[in-house]
Amino acid sequence: MAVFKKNLTSKIITDNLIKFIKNSKKSLKILEIGCGDGNISRKAMIIDKTCKHEFHLSDISKEAIEIVKKKIKRKKVIIKRGSIFKPWKDYTFDIIISDVSSISDEVANYSSWYRGVKNNAGLDGLKNMKVILKNVRKLMNKNGIFLFPIISLCNVGDLKKLAKKKFQLINFTKKIYWPLPKFFMIRKNKFKKLKKQRLINYDDKYGLSIAYTYIAICKK
Ligand SMILES: C[S@@+](CC[C@H](N)C(=O)[O-])C[C@H]1O[C@@H](n2cnc3c(N)ncnc32)[C@H](O)[C@@H]1O
Repeated sequence: MAVFKKNLTSKIITDNLIKFIKNSKKSLKILEIGCGDGNISRKAMIIDKTCKHEFHLSDISKEAIEIVKKKIKRKKVIIKRGSIFKPWKDYTFDIIISDVSSISDEVANYSSWYRGVKNNAGLDGLKNMKVILKNVRKLMNKNGIFLFPIISLCNVGDLKKLAKKKFQLINFTKKIYWPLPKFFMIRKNKFKKLKKQRLINYDDKYGLSIAYTYIAICKK
């Protein structure tokens, strides 16, 4: 098995997390699920020089968690292995981040991003997000926030509808556009069918297929 390599989504989530940490006067309890090698929380820890905040990280992958445990040597960190919220039954948090796989399996299976990494998010990419959105409020403190990426390689319309059912207050960051790589372009006909069924979304411009990513920030 392999461990996911940090990408544009990791960077966008990191930038948003850092904004919240920098602006917080109080000590925060932060959870990141689908942490992979832990790069998002690790970057945020660099900003948190005095160890004011408490970090919690988990992933379903044994290899990922082994790496996180090796890379993070710091006070106030709890690292666990397990699916979605299973490791965190008796906990509550001020900030919850999900970067659990949430793109269409059809795209993930052909990509190099998910070689040896579990996606298992269904054809619409929403299998994990449905479980997460159903349960996340229970783990959020009063005034807590839940932050997750919306990558256009899933059924974006249904994902936004699901999130809006659970949260009245959602802010969306601006979309960041990025070109889809070769594995996608050489299977364009296959992916066109998924787009027609609204299972994924992208734009065709200047001979390129362009996907987008942005962040949903949900408030309790
Ligand atoms: C898109 S990667 C993100 C990894 C990391 N946050 C990063 O930016 O590099 C998705 C991660 O979700 C994990 N994952 C997949 N299914 C999961 C599940 N059911 N519960 C927890 N983690 C899961 C994968 O092992 C993978 O590490």
